[in-house]
Amino acid sequence: MGGSSLQLVLTFVLFLLCTKPTLGNYWSVGDANLGCKEHERQALVKIKEDLIDDYDHLSSWSTRVGREDCCKWRGVNCNNQTGHIIQLNLNISDVEPLRGKLSPFLSELQYLNFLNVSYNDFNHTQIPKSIGSLSNLRHLDLYNANFGRNIPFQLGNLSNLQYLDLGENHFNKPENIEWLPQLSSLEYLCMSTINLSKVNNWLNVVNKLSYLTSLYLYSCSLPNIFPIPHVNSSTSLDILDLSVNNLTLPSSVIEWLSNSNTSVVELYLYDNQFQGLIPNAFSKINSLEVLSLHDNEFEGGIPKSFSGMCNLKTLSLSSNNLSEQLLGIVHNLTGCANHSIEKLYLDDNHIMGSFPDLTTFPSLRVLWLSENQLSGTIPESLGKQFNLERLYIGGNPFEGVISETHFSKLTKLKVFHIYDNSLVFNFSSNWVPPFQLDELYMNNCQLPHFPKWLQTQKNYYWLDLAKSGISDTLSNSYWIFPTHLRYIDLSGNKINGHIPNLLLESSFHFVINLHSNKLEGEIPPFVFKGLHLNLSNNTFSKLALSLCEASNNSLEFLDLSNNRLSEELPNCWMHFEGLKILKLANNHFHGKIPSSMGSLIEIETLDLGNNNFSGELPLTLKNCTKLIFLDLRNNSLSGPIPMWLGRSHPN
Ligand SMILES: *[C@@H]1O[C@H](CO)[C@@H](O)[C@H](O)[C@H]1NC(C)=O
Ligand SMILES: *[C@@H]1O[C@H](CO)[C@@H](O)[C@H](O)[C@H]1NC(C)=O
Ligand SMILES: *[C@@H]1O[C@H](CO)[C@@H](O)[C@H](O)[C@H]1NC(C)=O
Ligand SMILES: *[C@@H]1O[C@H](CO)[C@@H](O)[C@H](O)[C@H]1NC(C)=O
Ligand SMILES: *[C@@H]1O[C@H](CO)[C@@H](O)[C@H](O)[C@H]1NC(C)=O
Ligand SMILES: *[C@@H]1O[C@H](CO)[C@@H](O)[C@H](O)[C@H]1NC(C)=O
Ligand SMILES: *[C@@H]1O[C@H](CO)[C@@H](O)[C@H](O)[C@H]1NC(C)=O
Ligand SMILES: *[C@@H]1O[C@H](CO)[C@@H](O)[C@H](O)[C@H]1NC(C)=O
Ligand SMILES: *[C@@H]1O[C@H](CO)[C@@H](O)[C@H](O)[C@H]1NC(C)=O
Ligand SMILES: *[C@@H]1O[C@H](CO)[C@@H](O)[C@H](O)[C@H]1NC(C)=O
Ligand SMILES: *[C@@H]1O[C@H](CO)[C@@H](O)[C@H](O)[C@H]1NC(C)=O
Ligand SMILES: *[C@@H]1O[C@H](CO)[C@@H](O)[C@H](O)[C@H]1NC(C)=O
Repeated sequence: MGGSSLQLVLTFVLFLLCTKPTLGNYWSVGDANLGCKEHERQALVKIKEDLIDDYDHLSSWSTRVGREDCCKWRGVNCNNQTGHIIQLNLNISDVEPLRGKLSPFLSELQYLNFLNVSYNDFNHTQIPKSIGSLSNLRHLDLYNANFGRNIPFQLGNLSNLQYLDLGENHFNKPENIEWLPQLSSLEYLCMSTINLSKVNNWLNVVNKLSYLTSLYLYSCSLPNIFPIPHVNSSTSLDILDLSVNNLTLPSSVIEWLSNSNTSVVELYLYDNQFQGLIPNAFSKINSLEVLSLHDNEFEGGIPKSFSGMCNLKTLSLSSNNLSEQLLGIVHNLTGCANHSIEKLYLDDNHIMGSFPDLTTFPSLRVLWLSENQLSGTIPESLGKQFNLERLYIGGNPFEGVISETHFSKLTKLKVFHIYDNSLVFNFSSNWVPPFQLDELYMNNCQLPHFPKWLQTQKNYYWLDLAKSGISDTLSNSYWIFPTHLRYIDLSGNKINGHIPNLLLESSFHFVINLHSNKLEGEIPPFVFKGLHLNLSNNTFSKLALSLCEASNNSLEFLDLSNNRLSEELPNCWMHFEGLKILKLANNHFHGKIPSSMGSLIEIETLDLGNNNFSGELPLTLKNCTKLIFLDLRNNSLSGPIPMWLGRSHPN
């Protein structure tokens, strides 16, 4: 075919082009596509000299023959017409950062328009002042790179900058930010965690950035400003995050937003110190879709004016001091907002009254009402919230019966949290729910048996049925957990029988809590592959011999105390190096304390009390230098109390 021979020729030409550096300089004459500029390559070499590259990320930054084309170096992008470097991405890995400092030779890369060095560790060094000469820069991302010292005011020279992220570094507290308004093209600005407590005009400064659409000033110790400065609002702002700032009411920010023609879509003011009634002013910001006010000290209810917020999708008021009747709150949102609201967070307040009919909120996907003082019965209309995906209603003194009707149309339900109540769960034994849950959290409920319908659920990875009066038998034939379970808590029930020898997918670092039941027999090996295992206060009698093979070093918490284990401990603790807490007390373990326990270099709590251990303490315990708590009482240990005990354990 003509097509494939043409392809062959093309491939050959491409081969020649790609290998040109090794073919000598001849090929580079007049070729605009040819690799990088010599002085830019030298700048990169200087930049690398100032970096500590523990993980060899920049091994391609090499001057070896055949590697000279720095446009092919990792993180480097060149303009394909001119060959100049236009992008530098040193945001290689958040877990394997580059260290050292950012070289002033950066300024040699005059054509750079994009620089990302986020998630590195520049060890509190300064951003090079010369960065101010990179006049083509449009994106500058220095987020979370452990820069320190003063923010260089030379940043103000970067008049083409559209995106500037300085957040999560360790700069000195700036006296002012007067350089900022010079960045007249700025659309995105993040200064989170920079202490702006001395910058009393921050609002005026920010207001001068007329193209700004996203502003993040999270945890900046922003000063409250009085009186409200006369500012022309930035009508362009879409996202404003002023969370974690100790702001109080009356707030110039809220006044500013509500008195100006803004179109803010997402407003985050959580974790401040707002007290008193929620201001009506929020409802003047018609464009709002997300209003996040959690972790403040708002009182009362929700103003009636909120009913007119026709775009509101997410309203978060968790962890405030709201105290009105839920029915009244629902009424005050009814008008327009009730149609748009998808996520409503009212948990951890003092909201009272009964659970109202919420079918007038047809878009509701997420509902948090837990930790309030709601009482009475749960209406069957709940079963009609067909968009509901996540429902949190635990920690309220509800009463009455929960039946299949309460879930009849909840086909999308993924998460159900209900706990601490006196509800009676009345489901027919062959009920097949319309949903497939991911998470079920039903502790402190009254369930004499495992819910039969749970066997229809194949996807869940989170199961909490603790302290629910379950007196059933756990065994292979009856109970099959999904293998991707990450969290199971059945503690404080009256469950008997054996733990079936199943496999959980160990990649999930699972948590198993089965303490305070009546489980017996052998502890199967798979349970040791998790992160957290508590089987205390049962009647287990045998530790699987395969314990040693089972471990994959992920276990951090192991509690087998208060059982009937009566054997010698295996000497394989080198397979448990991650353990921080090990409790084996109140069993009948005998024999020597294994010397391999010295491999538990992370161990903080070691409780071997009330057993039958004999012999001397192994010298290797010296290695457990992080120990805080050691209990050896009521054993048959002998020999001198070693001098190193305590001396090697400063904590
Ligand atoms: C050069 O870069 C431009 C913009 O990135 C791109 O649209 C174009 O396809 C590239 N040309 C070649 C030959 O790679
Ligand atoms: C680094 O940033 C660039 C540009 O924003 C991005 O495309 C890339 O995915 C990032 N690299 C990593 C490892 O996250
Ligand atoms: C910079 O890199 C980080 C981490 O890879 C990424 O999350 C961020 O979006 C990048 N910044 C820009 C402006 O693309
Ligand atoms: C950080 O810099 C200090 C000097 O300011 C130096 O002593 C220390 O070793 C550096 N740390 C790292 C991890 O590079
Ligand atoms: C910043 O710009 C001014 C004038 O616009 C210039 O004199 C100065 O050298 C620039 N500073 C840097 C660091 O490029
Ligand atoms: C910010 O600086 C002020 C002093 O100007 C100080 O009182 C405040 O605690 C600092 N904020 C943080 C979060 O450290
Ligand atoms: C807020 O105030 C508390 C104490 O009142 C203080 O510990 C905290 O650092 C302050 N946070 C900020 C961001 O200023
Ligand atoms: C507000 O804008 C008007 C015109 O748009 C301008 O005359 C005035 O100086 C501005 N005020 C401030 C404080 O920027
Ligand atoms: C508010 O902004 C919109 C759109 O930018 C504009 O149509 C309207 O006239 C402005 N209203 C006032 C009072 O400035
Ligand atoms: C309803 O709104 C009115 C007027 O804003 C307010 O006084 C009342 O406290 C609100 N009630 C509830 C239950 O939120
Ligand atoms: C042990 O479990 C029983 C129920 O099986 C319970 O009553 C007791 O409080 C539990 N003890 C501890 C110390 O948790
Ligand atoms: C204890 O630490 C020493 C070095 O500090 C090491 O040689 C020895 O192997 C360690 N013992 C155990 C059991 O890990």
